[in-house]
Amino acid sequence: MKEIKRIGVLTSGGDAPGMNAAVRAVTRLALYKGIEVMGIYNGYQGLIEDNVKPLHERDVSFIINRGGTMLYSARSNDFRTKEGRAKAVENCRKHGIDGIVTIGGDGTFRGAVELTNDGVPCIGIPATIDNDIASTEATIGFDTAMNTVVDLVDKLRDTSESHSRCTVVEGMGREAGDIALQTSIALGAVTAVIREIPTDFDHVIEKMVAARKGGKRNFIIITCEGMGKDYGEELSAMIEARSGIESRFARLAHIQRGGAPTLRDRVLATQMGCAAVENLISGQMKQVMCLRGNNIVAMDIFDALTVDKLMKGKLKPEEEDKIPPNKLYEMKRIVADKQAYKNYLNYIIDHITL
Ligand code: F6P
Repeated sequence: MKEIKRIGVLTSGGDAPGMNAAVRAVTRLALYKGIEVMGIYNGYQGLIEDNVKPLHERDVSFIINRGGTMLYSARSNDFRTKEGRAKAVENCRKHGIDGIVTIGGDGTFRGAVELTNDGVPCIGIPATIDNDIASTEATIGFDTAMNTVVDLVDKLRDTSESHSRCTVVEGMGREAGDIALQTSIALGAVTAVIREIPTDFDHVIEKMVAARKGGKRNFIIITCEGMGKDYGEELSAMIEARSGIESRFARLAHIQRGGAPTLRDRVLATQMGCAAVENLISGQMKQVMCLRGNNIVAMDIFDALTVDKLMKGKLKPEEEDKIPPNKLYEMKRIVADKQAYKNYLNYIIDHITL
């Protein structure tokens, strides 16, 4: 096993509050263990363009509280090419980088697998507001984004109440409805409209009309971008037409990605950052850090990406056939647990709101 003397750290894909806290933890623990740290700026693109500088203790001071990422982020098309990756590997060799902690979402992890296969060991830390990495119970940034949604929709509710309206809100999350589902509970929304769970609109409209008769003035419905480009606006129009309750639509968009990370995201990022360094030092690679219960556990990145495919119903039968039965069983259990939790949250929303 090659001794790790110098590591790189990068952030890639959509930024997420708490990425800085993870960069800080990786840097500080590595330095404490006598390992040098190189900050790779602008994600994989920065590695190709040799945008690499040493990070010292003080370089990561006063960032645990800051949103965004001090290492910046980019989505790199060049990294998808053989030539681009060869350049990235060459720059790692030039700087003596023995391994990289990659912080981001599933695209970041696919890059980490490629880079590991090309000879640079990588470890992934899940950071995305979407919470769409099924192998972990939470991704870094998810908690902060949800708190931002709660804060913003509380404001929308004020005007909804004054004008006796329904507000349909679209949250981010790519194909995942996690933000919409959990914030719907925290906001007392009528319903969460997400891809993972079908909505019975006859039932929703019936509830809304009955509640309006009973004196309820404001209604909140949370949906997610995964439902389609103009879905939220169309939903708002449909609600108004069918219920007779005036409706407005609000898309929260990138505002959900900014702001100071919550305590929960700072702690998660710090735990995952430290675990990633420990694992890299002990010769582990191609792993993603996952929160299970109160523990940080490691899962093979390829397996983690497979669990995501399973969750989205995108795993092809021929891919499934290649997975050993005990591993497939474990993957299916993770997916079933996640779906069961979503169904449970949806059940609560349906039974106690209005
Ligand atoms: O993955 C985070 C995310 O904010 C998604 O929720 C959204 O679909 C996407 O990134 C937006 O990407 P961009 O910043 O490229 O517009």
